[in-house]
Amino acid sequence: MKKLVVAAVAAILMSGTAYADTIKVGVIGPFSGPFALQGKNFKAGIDAYMALNGNTVGDDTVEVVYRDVPQADPAQSKALAQELVVKEGVQYLAGFYFTPDAMAVTPLLKQANVPMVVMNAATSAIVTKSPLVVRTSFTTWQTSTPLAKVALDKGIKKMISVVSDYGPGIDAENAFKTGFEGLGGTVVETIRMPLATNDFSPIMQRIKDSGAEGVFAFLPSGPTTLGFVKAYNENGLKAAGTPLYGPGDFTQESDLPALGDMALGMQTGFHYSVAHDSPENKVFVEAARKAIGNPAELSFPAVGAYDGMYVIYKMIEATGGEQDAAKAVEAVKGLSWTSPRGPVSIYAESRHITQNIYLREVAKADDGTYYNKEIQTFENQKDPGLAAAK
Ligand code: PHB
Repeated sequence: MKKLVVAAVAAILMSGTAYADTIKVGVIGPFSGPFALQGKNFKAGIDAYMALNGNTVGDDTVEVVYRDVPQADPAQSKALAQELVVKEGVQYLAGFYFTPDAMAVTPLLKQANVPMVVMNAATSAIVTKSPLVVRTSFTTWQTSTPLAKVALDKGIKKMISVVSDYGPGIDAENAFKTGFEGLGGTVVETIRMPLATNDFSPIMQRIKDSGAEGVFAFLPSGPTTLGFVKAYNENGLKAAGTPLYGPGDFTQESDLPALGDMALGMQTGFHYSVAHDSPENKVFVEAARKAIGNPAELSFPAVGAYDGMYVIYKMIEATGGEQDAAKAVEAVKGLSWTSPRGPVSIYAESRHITQNIYLREVAKADDGTYYNKEIQTFENQKDPGLAAAK
């Protein structure tokens, strides 16, 4: 009998999948406060992925644990990541809407033996802070660079740049300026606003005074972008024919009902439109709308989260559920698949997602709803900000 038990235990151990485990994924994001809708979109993307692909990988069950950081707050993000690793025993960390929240956690990854899958934060440098970071969202270098040519092709020679004064804003400014001046245009003034700015009238006045023919701008998506586009309209800049170009954070679908005609005709560069026409996106939108409840609330953080889960499932598969962060990350380098946004891959050198960037224009559908209509595709874009970030 004893011999039999020993033999059985040995057989189980040698099979390498001795126990069916629960593998926990800790997701940090804004789930309350002014940016709660962005966090809700993380959850909708994750729920959609798990509804379509199940909650098991091999013998293991995947469980997602959420933690709330309402606004950019690196200290709170770090404390919650520590708690997730030590008390909850998560094998993966994911989410991270704001850059500072992602940056604060990268120093923990090696010792914790935990990969981080960034589902939104868009500053190029994040991936350089730890070899255990993989990103499935975008960078503002990726989304801003094509806009330089778009503005010049419209005959605009003088632009002003206005950005939130932190990582993704500074990257966006550098990307646009590099592109625009490289092609012969001039950025006449660069304005960096504190992240907490919510009165944009003085900025609109500075734009008018600058003599620029157009505006390039970036703010993190949420009440921030909504307020900026409203101020741009209310201060007469749109009516005066001074175009506003920026990444698609400005026209996220969940803000379009509130912006209405204020957003109509606005051109943005981005990796994802809910209106993207593909079979993969149809499947995603249906599942994610079901998950979020109110279909009008679906927005881009959901696709970063959905693809983030795809990557995490591949990592779990490659490690057989064992906790081996380096092996997990190695396994997804070079991975390519068809995302709801289009064809994507994880570029091995940066561990950041290579993808199409689309020029989109806000249009009005026959039923009166507004959407981001893709009008041009910049194919297969790596992160142009990687070199500067290193
Ligand atoms: C960021 O903090 O990196 C960030 C947040 C919201 C965005 C884009 C970038 O819409």
